[in-house]
Amino acid sequence: MTSHIAIVGDGAIGSLLAAGAQRNQSPYSVLLRRQRPAVTNVVHMDGTSTTLHNREPVALSSRDLLIVPVKYYQLASAIEQWRHLLCPDTPVVLLQNGMGGHEVLTSLLPDNPLYLATTSHGALKVSAQEVKHTGMGETKLGVIAPVHGTSNEQALLNNRVTAQINACLPPVLWQQNIQAALWEKLAINLVINPLTAIDDVTNGALKHPHYQRQIHNICSETAMVMTACGFPTDTQSLVARVRKVIAQTANNYSSMHQDIHHGRQSEIEGISGFLVRQAKKTGIDVPINTGLYQKIRALSLK
Ligand code: PAF
Repeated sequence: MTSHIAIVGDGAIGSLLAAGAQRNQSPYSVLLRRQRPAVTNVVHMDGTSTTLHNREPVALSSRDLLIVPVKYYQLASAIEQWRHLLCPDTPVVLLQNGMGGHEVLTSLLPDNPLYLATTSHGALKVSAQEVKHTGMGETKLGVIAPVHGTSNEQALLNNRVTAQINACLPPVLWQQNIQAALWEKLAINLVINPLTAIDDVTNGALKHPHYQRQIHNICSETAMVMTACGFPTDTQSLVARVRKVIAQTANNYSSMHQDIHHGRQSEIEGISGFLVRQAKKTGIDVPINTGLYQKIRALSLK
């Protein structure tokens, strides 16, 4: 029996997932918060496009999958809205920028097998009906709440979920420690997102010597908090990783830049806000990240 993939929302990444499912002829539905025209066209990097044929939401069994690629601040209401579709065995994948979402998910869905994912694919919603795939990337996936069964059952489920995500947003790299992978991504977002949004620049502008001290200081605070939280690292390796992503995405505007400049709510609570909260818990001072957090919050209120 073919399994069904339900995707919450028709955001840029949600629509890429739907296009992947469509291309692989996997049955899928895009769950919208309210009735309205959804994204119908996804333009791929080779210039071809996929027309989405969305289906009505269906009740999801243990063979199906719910993917939640929504912003941190939309997560709780999205789960409240759609959990009636789930059975206690339906696996759920949270795909998000930033961190902190998994606590929300585990408290709202204490019984379901839960997975976390992060992707470096770039996508842009160019209109209410069209999404463009703007950068090739990869998707990291790992489990956070295991099934209440044997390790063999867990391994089978992990393989199935990997294959389902791989059909939608390949390539999938399975992570034994997905939290570590998310911290590494967070370290990159902590630099690029607030700086580009505050200064209204592309990611590539952060190559300028003017930013290097600030980048070093953000990474130094992040390294201390990561280490205190059980993910040991050092400033130099974080700076090197940040520089690599700045070079790879030089022409892009970061997601936070786009949110702030289009007057949308940003993901600051799951990025700098998350770091500031972890710093408080571990008794570490993070004045640079706290300053950036406050600046973005002030910009969001304008
Ligand atoms: O949020 C984003 O925009 C992306 O995660 C990244 C890696 C910063 C590139 O723009």
